[in-house]
Order: sequence, then structure tokens, then C-alpha cells
Amino acid sequence: MPARSKKKVFIETLGCQMNMADTERMLGLLEEIEYYPTENVAEADLSILNSCSIREHAVDKMKSYIGSWDRIRKAGSLIAIAGCVAQQEGKKLLHQVRTADILIGTHNIHRLPDLVIEAEGKLTEAINNNIPEAIENKGTYQRATTAEIWEELPEDIPETPIFRKTKYFAWVNVIYGCNYRCTYCIVPKTRGDQRSRSIKEIVDEVSVLADEGYEEIILLGQNVDGYGLDIGSNLATLLREVHKVDGIKRIKFLTSHPCDMTFELIETVAELDKVSKYFHIPIQAGNNEVLKRMARRYTVERYMELINYIRKLMPDASITGDVIVGFPGETHEQFMDTVRAIQIIGYDACNTAVYSPRPYTPAADWEDPVSATEKQERIRFLNAIVTEVADKQAQRYLNTIQDILIEGPSQRNPDRLTGRISHNKTTNIECDPKLHDKYIGKFTKVKITQAKAWALRGEIVN
Ligand code: SAH
Ligand code: SF4
Ligand code: F3S
Repeated sequence: MPARSKKKVFIETLGCQMNMADTERMLGLLEEIEYYPTENVAEADLSILNSCSIREHAVDKMKSYIGSWDRIRKAGSLIAIAGCVAQQEGKKLLHQVRTADILIGTHNIHRLPDLVIEAEGKLTEAINNNIPEAIENKGTYQRATTAEIWEELPEDIPETPIFRKTKYFAWVNVIYGCNYRCTYCIVPKTRGDQRSRSIKEIVDEVSVLADEGYEEIILLGQNVDGYGLDIGSNLATLLREVHKVDGIKRIKFLTSHPCDMTFELIETVAELDKVSKYFHIPIQAGNNEVLKRMARRYTVERYMELINYIRKLMPDASITGDVIVGFPGETHEQFMDTVRAIQIIGYDACNTAVYSPRPYTPAADWEDPVSATEKQERIRFLNAIVTEVADKQAQRYLNTIQDILIEGPSQRNPDRLTGRISHNKTTNIECDPKLHDKYIGKFTKVKITQAKAWALRGEIVN
């Protein structure tokens, strides 16, 4: 390839950790064609929106970001849409986002450098031909638009270079996609069926991370507990192998599905020192009828059995969840079952969202007699309960000493440092900015001085 001049890429990432990990992969791939990251859209030669489709709100956010970029970006710069909305909609998306030069789905990230080079060529040609829309970034010319979505999945996602934005902990994809078909969820459409990476590949990646100085890793999957089921293995086995890697001090995994979480997995977490006693297990609803219509394939009783076993083996474990409010037809009584379940479980944190109908999902076509106002009232009520429960749970950290991996200055207050305890709760730490460099990137002993539902405060223990 002929020598290329250095260029800048800006990526806005919406959605979950899968997208964050994909962003790091895109940055790694782009470095190979001399694109380097910038945090400023105005100076970027290429701006990428890594989109999320989980709720309508995320799609609206994508459009509003791109609209705002169009006002400030450099003449002759490129725009790409990646991620779940691109995968879901394919070329149809170009009718809605006219300025996109490149579309790239979640299954073909490794093709990004080729697509960028192709789009650069088309843009240069359009500018040379004095096509005014190309010169002024209006994007209504279709010649410069490259759109490529592979409908079928490749056998496996090829290994690609990664530019890690997270400097002190690292995401490691262990399983892609999801085999469940929850009736509200777009993820199977945007991420495809379950594909596990081999244990060897994962352990190799973790070993390289350890050599680079990473001490904490987060094993990722939409249904991480399904790890290995397609290749004759399981998550417990993977955890044991990753646990052997020298240099790694803390291991977390996300997101668990109650259906694939086994007692063996819980026992393995209890046994392995480096594995955080932290479980993110979305319940979605606390009523069996609603769970059935969601096609979640477990009952509230089964969910409670798992929680009880976790608490039996690890009384102090942290448990977090997700809940959907106002699923089509959810009655007030069914909603109250969810409220009661949250109180009984005693979550350390719980994400809540009003149900948002998604295209191509069964529930989107279902009748829904419950008004939007009623749903808003339910979520307000639920959020107050979640905060109360989480606040109560957080008190057990008060006056304890926690090992915190310090990530950097807090975004809200640069006089503070921020990091997470092993149980994943964010902690803000009072610390003279002159001393920040001494702690950033290191596991540090912190005494917890204040405990609230969503975050802790602490002081460094010398
Ligand atoms: N794989 C995980 C999480 C998937 S998406 C699981 O099975 O639990 C993350 C969260 O978004 C879900 O847990 C759910 O609470 C929420 N979510 C997914 N689809 C949604 C929709 N259509 N409307 C509202 N919330 C949704
Ligand atoms: Fe979506 Fe259900 Fe799969 Fe989770 S388990 S990603 S909610 S289909
Ligand atoms: Fe969103 Fe895609 Fe994740 S839809 S939540 S970014 S898998």
C-alpha cells in the first residue's frame, strides 16, 4: 500500500460494552491505515457513530449526534455509521441519514479499512468533479456513499488489532451474539447467533494483556453464561483457565442470563480468588406471566434460587439487574410483583427502562392498553424503590477498606480520583491532584467514608 498521510478519527460510542469493545477494534484497524484517535469532531477526517438500537431513544441520539456533527465537521471529512442500527437497517438507513459515507455492520468490522479507502476515493472524485454537495458536506450526493452490510455471518469474527481506550482494565469478548429470542429484544437481529471464541484464543489475549500491564479484565458476552455451550465447554472452565494467567488480579464477567447460570458457575466464582463476587443478572420482570410473554424461559422462583445460592456461598456478593417497565399488557398487579421482587432480591443497583417497541421483534406488534403516562408513573415509582434498596445495600461498604483500581480523575470533579471496587461500584476518592499520577492505574487501598445508591466516596489509606 502506498504511504498515506496521517489522519484523525473520532468515534462516538452508544450502547453497551459490546459496542465499546468494537470501538477499540475499529480504532485498532484504522491505525493500520494511519488514522489516529481524536476527541474532537471538528478536527476529525473521519467521524464514526457506533450506534445502538436497544431502545428508540438510542436511535434518536444517533441522529442528533450526526446532525450536530454536520454543523461543525471539516470540509471533505467522512462520516460512518457502525454498530447495531447499521447492522439492523443496512442501506435503508441512508434514507434517514443522508450524510453517511460508510455503513458498516457489527459482523464485518474487519472490513472497515477497505471501506474507508473506498469512500475516500469516491469523495475525492466527487470533489474533483465539483459536486457541490460533496464539497460542502451536505451528503445528498450518493456517489460518495459506500454501503456494505453482510447479511450472512462469517464463520468466526477474524481476530483484529485493538486500540485499547481503557488503559487500566480491558474488555475481552468471549462470546458474540445470542441464541435467545426475548420478544422485546433487537440484539439477536443486530448481533446474530451465539459464537464462542476458543479458550486458547481468549487465554492468549489475556496473557498479552497481562504482559502489557493490565491487571483487570472483563469477559464480555450478551449472554456470557452461554459461553462455550456451542463448542463443548462452559464459563466455569473458562474462568479457571483465565484465573491461571499471572499478572491478572481481577476478573469480572458480563452479562449473565438466569437460564444459563449454573450452580457450578456460582461455586467456581466463590472458589476463585481473582474473580469478583459480582453478578449482573437481569430479571426483566418479577412476574411469571410477564416473563413468559417476554420468552425469558425462567420463573421468578428459579431466579430466586440462583440468588439464594449466590448469597449462601458469598453472603457479601454484589448483585445487579435490569428491569423493563410497561411490557405490553403488564397490569398494575404484575408491575407490583416486579417491585416486590426487587425489594426481596436487594439489588446493589438495577437499570430500569420503559419498554420500547423495536422493529422486527414480536412484541412490537402486540396490543398495549397501558398509557405512556401510566408507564412513566410506574418507572418513577420503581426508580425510587431501586434507589432505596441500593442505598441500603451500599451501607455495608461504609468504613470498609476496598482495593480499588484507580482509573483517573473524576469527570465531575477533577480534584477527585475515580475507580471501582471489586464489586464494581464506582468510588470517588478525595485526592490532591498533585498526587494523582502516583495512584492512576494502580490497585489502591481506599477507606469508604460515604455510601450512596449509585456511588461510594472514599479516602486513600496510606
Ligand atoms: N443480554 C442481556 C441484556 C440485553 S440488552 C439479557 O438478556 O438480560 C440490555 C438491557 O436492555 C436488557 O436487560 C433490558 O432490560 C433492556 N432492553 C432490551 N430491549 C429493550 C426494549 N425493547 N425496551 C426497553 N428495554 C429493553
Ligand atoms: Fe436480548 Fe434476550 Fe438475548 Fe438478552 S437474552 S440479548 S434480552 S434476546
Ligand atoms: Fe445496543 Fe447493540 Fe449493545 S443494540 S445494547 S449496542 S448489542
